[in-house]
Amino acid sequence: MRRVYLDTVDSTNKWAKEHISELEDKTVVYTYNQTAGRGRLNRTWNNIGTDNIYASVILKPSNRMEEVYSNLTQYLCVVLAETFEEYGVMPKIKWPNDIQINGKKISGILAEGVNDGENLEGLILGVGVNLNSSKEILDQINQPATSLNIEIGEEIDKEDFLKKLTDKFCLLYDKFIEEGFLLIKEGYIKRASFLGKNVSVKVFDKIVEGKAVEITDNGALKIVDKNNKEHTLLIGDIL
Ligand code: BTN
Repeated sequence: MRRVYLDTVDSTNKWAKEHISELEDKTVVYTYNQTAGRGRLNRTWNNIGTDNIYASVILKPSNRMEEVYSNLTQYLCVVLAETFEEYGVMPKIKWPNDIQINGKKISGILAEGVNDGENLEGLILGVGVNLNSSKEILDQINQPATSLNIEIGEEIDKEDFLKKLTDKFCLLYDKFIEEGFLLIKEGYIKRASFLGKNVSVKVFDKIVEGKAVEITDNGALKIVDKNNKEHTLLIGDIL
């Protein structure tokens, strides 16, 4: 994967958006000092120190990309989970693309599309990975969070993690574009933390509540509500 390193930046996603026309397919823009990170649901993504990864993967449209567009975050999510597993931890996926260890968030993904008129110019997959932090810093975040060094009791080499992650991403990317979610369905489901549980999902400004019963062949979350009505959600966030 091509790399663009920024010494310090407000947000790698924002920077990538502004430079999208100069960036090639499969480029990662990354920094170790992000000053105004953005998260999903209009949240911020805290700067928890310079030994953590703040990165954006830039993908340019290709043949079948639009068909798997909404699943690309799930692909990155499985790649992230596999990378964490190389360190001996057991990450879980919270639909669609949060990574947690023992119920605490360790990584999140924010996908942003950039359009040129009616056409998609590029997709930006922003990812924050908590690698080296302290309980004191993580306690200041507004949701339970952890970092890899805390989980394994060792300092993590951030360059090494980034290389493992980006190499893994490239390994099956073309196959994923061809085959879509089915390629990773099994790997996604075996790490899913939410199946069989009652969940509340925010879909735009609506909340859907019920039991999470299935992940479909195209990565959607199927929920059965208290009136036995099925909801199949392709986008949203489990709260
Ligand atoms: C989430 O809310 O879980 C998504 C967080 C995504 C954070 C990353 S850090 C790098 C990239 N740049 C941003 O401003 N946000 C994403």
